[in-house]
Order: sequence, then C-alpha cells, then structure tokens
Amino acid sequence: MKITSKELREKWLSFYESKGHENIGAVSLIGDGSTGVMFNVAGMQPLMPYLLGKKHPSGKTRLCNVQGCMRTVDIDSVGDASHFTFFEMMGNWSLGDYFKKEKTAWTFELLTSVFGLDKDKLCTTVFEGNESVPRDTETAQYLESLGIRREHIFYLPKEDNWWELEGTVGTPCGPDNEWFYPLDAAKENPIFPDDYVEIGNDVYMQYKKTETGYEILDHKNVDTGFGFDRMLLFLNGLSDGYKTDLFLAVIKKLEEISGKSYDGDESARKAMRIIADHTRTTALLIGDENGILPSNTGSGYILRRIMRRAIRYCKQLGIESKALLDVAKIFIEEVYSEAFPLLLQKESYILGEIAKEADKFEATLAQGIKEFEKCAQGIARKNEFMKKSNPDYTDETVIGGKQAFRLYDTYGFPLELTEELANERGLTVDKAGFDAAFKEHQEKSRVLPTGQFKGGLESHSEMATRYHTATHLLNAALKAVVSPDINQKGSNITDERMRFDFNLARPMTAEEIAAVEALVNEKIKEDIPVVYKEMSLDEARTENFVGVFDAKYGDTVKTYSIGEFSKEMCGGPHVEHTGVLGRFKIVKEQSSSSGVRRIKAILE
Ligand code: ALA
Repeated sequence: MKITSKELREKWLSFYESKGHENIGAVSLIGDGSTGVMFNVAGMQPLMPYLLGKKHPSGKTRLCNVQGCMRTVDIDSVGDASHFTFFEMMGNWSLGDYFKKEKTAWTFELLTSVFGLDKDKLCTTVFEGNESVPRDTETAQYLESLGIRREHIFYLPKEDNWWELEGTVGTPCGPDNEWFYPLDAAKENPIFPDDYVEIGNDVYMQYKKTETGYEILDHKNVDTGFGFDRMLLFLNGLSDGYKTDLFLAVIKKLEEISGKSYDGDESARKAMRIIADHTRTTALLIGDENGILPSNTGSGYILRRIMRRAIRYCKQLGIESKALLDVAKIFIEEVYSEAFPLLLQKESYILGEIAKEADKFEATLAQGIKEFEKCAQGIARKNEFMKKSNPDYTDETVIGGKQAFRLYDTYGFPLELTEELANERGLTVDKAGFDAAFKEHQEKSRVLPTGQFKGGLESHSEMATRYHTATHLLNAALKAVVSPDINQKGSNITDERMRFDFNLARPMTAEEIAAVEALVNEKIKEDIPVVYKEMSLDEARTENFVGVFDAKYGDTVKTYSIGEFSKEMCGGPHVEHTGVLGRFKIVKEQSSSSGVRRIKAILE
C-alpha cells in the first residue's frame, strides 16, 4: 500500500488543521429527519443550518472532518468493483469565511504537494453559467494562475457542475469545481474525460434552493467533499474498491472460510463483495450513536434488506451465515476501531443482533429450499410419467421463470442461488422467463401498492397514518390545481415521508407545485374532520368518491371524506381531523415512468 486508510485520514485532517480548520469529527450516520432523508448522504448534510447562516457551536468558521455517509439507491449494483452502500466523505468548510481564492489554492496544494499528483495531468471543471447564476470565470482564473493548464479547465452546465442535496427546497447549494485525474497515472497523453476519474469537488455554496429557483445567501460558503474510499483506492493505483486495506482482512477471512478464491472465482468474488459491504453497513448502523435495528418500517427496513442480502450471499458462497459475525468483528475490532470507537463499545450488542436476524432469516430460507425441492421433484415426476407413455420423450430440465421469480420474491432467493441449486441437480433455470416475470412485477408495483406493505403503508404508526391522510389531500389538490383527470397511480409511505405517483405527461411547473402545496396546507389549517363511512360501491360512485384500485373492491366499500374536498374509497387508517398533520412540503417532483410523475413530500 502506498498510503493506508489511517494515513489518508490523518493527512486530510492535518492539512486542513494547518489551514486553521477545526476537526469537528463525524456525527451519526442516521439523518435527523430534517431533510426528509433517512441517512446522511453527504458530509454537508449535518452542517446545513450553519451553511445557511447559523453560528456553529464550535464558534469556528473553518471546519473539517471525515464523515460517514450512506447511499442505498444503488444497492443492487453492490457486488461490482465500485459500488458501496457506505462510504466516508473527507470534507472541509468555510462558513462565510474564505472563498474561491483560498479554496482553489489549498485543494491544488493538497493534491500536488501532499498527495504528489502531477499538476500537468490534473483536469478540472467549473460551472458554465445559466440565466440565474453567472459563469464561474473567477474560479477558472485562480486555477489557471496556480499552474493548471488552460486546456485542462472545462466549463460545464448545471447537470455537471452544480451541487445540491437531492433537490430539497431550503437547502444551501451552488456551482462546484470538480477535480479529475487519470485513473491510470502512468498513461501517456490521457484524454479527458475518457481516461479520467473524479476525485472530489469544491462547492461554492452561495445559494439557497427555493420553491421557484435560487436565492443568493448573505455569506459565501465553501463545501468540499473528497470521497475517502475512492481517494484511497486511487492514490494506491487500484481499481477494485475491495482491494484497499479497509477490506483486505475481511476478504482474506471470507476466502479462508469458503475455501474459494476472490481473484479466481467471479461468482465467489461478487458474493464476498456483497457480504463485506453489507456487513460493514450493518455494523455501522446498529452500532451508530442513534443505532437502528432491522424492522419492517423506514430505515429499519432498509437495514433488514441489507442484512438479508448479506445472508443470502453467504448461502451462495457456500458458507454459514454466522460468518457475518467474523466479518463484523474484523470491521469493529480492526478496521474501524479508531475511526468509529463506539463500535467496539457496542460490539456484543451488534453481534447479538446480527445473529438474531440471521436465525430469523435462515428459517425463511429453509422454507424456500423446500419450495425449490418441490419444483425439482415436480419436474422429475413429470419426466418419469411422460417416459412411461413415450419412450422417445426428452427430459425436461428447466425450472420455469415464474417459479424462479416466486423463489426470489417470496423467499428472497437471488436468481444465482436458484441456478446453483438447479445445477446441482442437473437442471437449468429459464432466465429469460425470470427476467420477464421480474419486469412484469416491477410494472405492476409501479401502479399498485408494494406487496409487503399493505395499502402502500409501511406501518400503522401515527406518523404513517398522518402521511396517509396527507396523500388524500394531495390527490384532491392535484385534481383541483393541475387537472381533474389526475388519478393516483401508486403510493408508498414511511414514517418519514410519502411518495405519490400520478398520471401526468409533463413535469409540473414550479407554480403548480407551490399552489398544490399551499392548497394542502390550507386544508390542514381548516382542521377538517375526516369522516369514515361504509356504503355500497354504487352509492360511492354516485357520490363521486374516487377509487384508486376499484377492481379490488367488493360490494360494500369503505370511504373517507375530508369535507367536500376529498372523497376516496380507502381502507384507512386516517387521522380524525386534518389539523394534526403539521406543515406539508413537497420536496421533489420527478418522473416515475412514462406518463407518470412522482411527488415526494414530508410533513414537518
Ligand atoms: N457536498 C459535496 C458532495 O457531497 C461536497 O460532493
């Protein structure tokens, strides 16, 4: 290793400390709910109030740290060389203190003098400007004066060089300056961007996102983020993220237990990566200062999904799920003992919870294996029977795609596991059929509530009930503001947010979003009683109740009305009157699928 994870942490922090920054340390991985996101997804997330002008408790205006972050959107891609559910962000901030001149100079100094990168190979991109924010020529000039070649400075549009947190209204944001270096440092005449990787960015956070655009902030901030794990990889000249010292001991352990080789066996490699990544995230989430446990709602559900995926891949690797305990121990006792000392204190608790979840899931898996055996035996019996009447009959050897999908969907079997079980019996799996069943299911779940959560509700907790009532208000407000033809196409609710899909062939305008939000809030303020009534389907139709999933309803239907404003056939539960909902806020309006838009909203 040219540089260890420990050295990299130290170098980052001491460099910025030498420039007057206070190391504020990392905070909990679990978001505080203020942004509508369950986990910290960026180093700046816990610092938002200070970027917006509040005084930092340390009294300082120059801060730095290495902050754990989670991003679970790509969970299904974990298993390749570059996707992870957890990563650390090396960050530093100016809270209304220094700005572009100092920042460009320090990033340049760190990259060239401390990390030894060649200034002639550095490439960098800046914001090209648009109707609301000017072109960032100032940053470009500083970069050039530092010695970066002019032809290595690129102006790019908002898609590339603007940083904001998931489009959330009220958050600080701004143009960024991104830094790139050739992946293969030895390559002669590398071409940008093909041969380059992004290593980090300096965001000039001078704006606040509003409902309709951007507002300039009183003070100018800098928000720098360099991915720790990626930088470690890159500085060591590696391209496989599991080859750094964060994972070496864990991979070695998994090789020992399984008797399989990471480098020599592609399917074992994928399983080892998933087990390693997911176990690390599991240990960090359970062992966090605001630690969570696997459950069927909210962030607990995400944790459960991660844990079960790791357990499944133990099966696939041919090892017992208690191997997760060995893996977790390495992360807790060796890899993260200094960076996350709380893990050591909570070690027995973390290991106990992993063991419990593994036992629980093992039972489901055992049922799935039985189900698989039934399929395999069915094929064998059919073959035997057919042969009796037709000696020329060729044996059927394929497990149907629908059956494989059922194993995946109900028992959590990845396709690869079913294939492996099938191969052991001289059978194969109809992969195309599996893909088709998978796709069909995805399409269905786009317009129907997800299977595991009845009626789109992840839990019947109080918060979820509020969100449920809010979906009725939103549905009615969309019809009133945007178009009476709007219908609900699906919804999904957690304790922290709601998601609502509806038919509309174009994005909503900012004015429409603001008007819908205002109308929902007006109805909340009016504190209207929510009235439940059972009636016949015909009566409900005559009275203009809207039914989202009509086909499912029997003769008598349950209805909820909120004055004359909203009338829906629905199984509930709902709050008793709208006043308890709090403030309704749309955090995102985006495309969901063709002709379907998706709104994400929170109650504050
Ligand atoms: N907030 C910026 C990022 O996460 C620095 O990349």
